[in-house]
Amino acid sequence: MNKRTFAIIKPDAVRNNYTGLIYDRILKANFTILGAKLIRMTKAQAEGFYAVHRERPFFTELTDFMSSGKCMVLALEKENAVAEWRKTIGATNPAEADAGTIRKDFATSLGENAVHGSDSDENAKLEISFFFSESELIANL
Ligand code: CMP
Repeated sequence: MNKRTFAIIKPDAVRNNYTGLIYDRILKANFTILGAKLIRMTKAQAEGFYAVHRERPFFTELTDFMSSGKCMVLALEKENAVAEWRKTIGATNPAEADAGTIRKDFATSLGENAVHGSDSDENAKLEISFFFSESELIANL
């Protein structure tokens, strides 16, 4: 299962019309898009997805933001996908992200940081299944 990861193009990036530019980064980094959906998360969905952060002081801010507008959820495939996607997006705080990463180029703050990426294979599996059924994931062209 270490060939899959889960990504979100967050509401700030969709609002700023960066969806196409971020898609381009995904494809140029040689990820295969297994599934993609444009959705608007409900507050309850955002709370469920980020339940691991429930006790954090930024939980309300995070879930308000994630349910504030449309986002694109994606299941991505590549060898060593979790680490490769985290390298492509850069540090959580865009101020600390390396040059050429998605967050360096498209994110504005720690809270509104353009994209999400799973932090482990286990979470990638859980996060993909939060938004996609297995039959929605298309492995081959
Ligand atoms: P993400 O990779 O989606 O996972 C959890 C998110 O919480 C993270 O990106 C940040 O956008 C957000 N986050 C982390 N720390 C803070 C913080 N101190 N204040 C606001 N949001 C935060």
